[in-house]
Amino acid sequence: MAITRTFSIIKPDATRRNITGKVNAMIEAAGLRIVAQKRLQLTQAQAEGFYAVHRERGFFGELVQFMISGPVVVQVLEGEDAVPAYRKVMGATNPANADAGTIRKELAESIEANTVHGSDSDENAAIEIAYFFSQCEIVG
Ligand code: PPS
Repeated sequence: MAITRTFSIIKPDATRRNITGKVNAMIEAAGLRIVAQKRLQLTQAQAEGFYAVHRERGFFGELVQFMISGPVVVQVLEGEDAVPAYRKVMGATNPANADAGTIRKELAESIEANTVHGSDSDENAAIEIAYFFSQCEIVG
């Protein structure tokens, strides 16, 4: 297996509840290394640009409003096959369908307030990482 990177967002429901440390502990317990991290207040334009692929979906406006409702923590994670490894520890999009022990099952509130985002492919991980980080901010 190759060492690769994925992009993560700890969402506003988690910063509001002051549980970003719990999320990070679960990330690290899964064998992923946090090689870049910063806390941001997204602008509406930033959130709309990031989620542009979902522009036509009925929940787009609500998703954007939720993502700008409070601070987020954006991260780059590194590890063996990082994209699927992180999606496994995140659990299903809807916490009601997530497996026990996953971040969303243990910590998420709803399909909207679902605590974390993770890239869905290596290609999108590279695009999403570049959206928020310059190379010199990532220290492996
Ligand atoms: S995924 O992981 O991309 O396959 O999930 P998907 O179901 O396509 O959802 C894409 C993102 O939209 C969020 N989402 C919602 N937000 C608000 N309301 C509703 N009903 C809703 N359904 C899905 C979901 O959390 C995904 O966000 P990210 O940040 O990409 O995980």
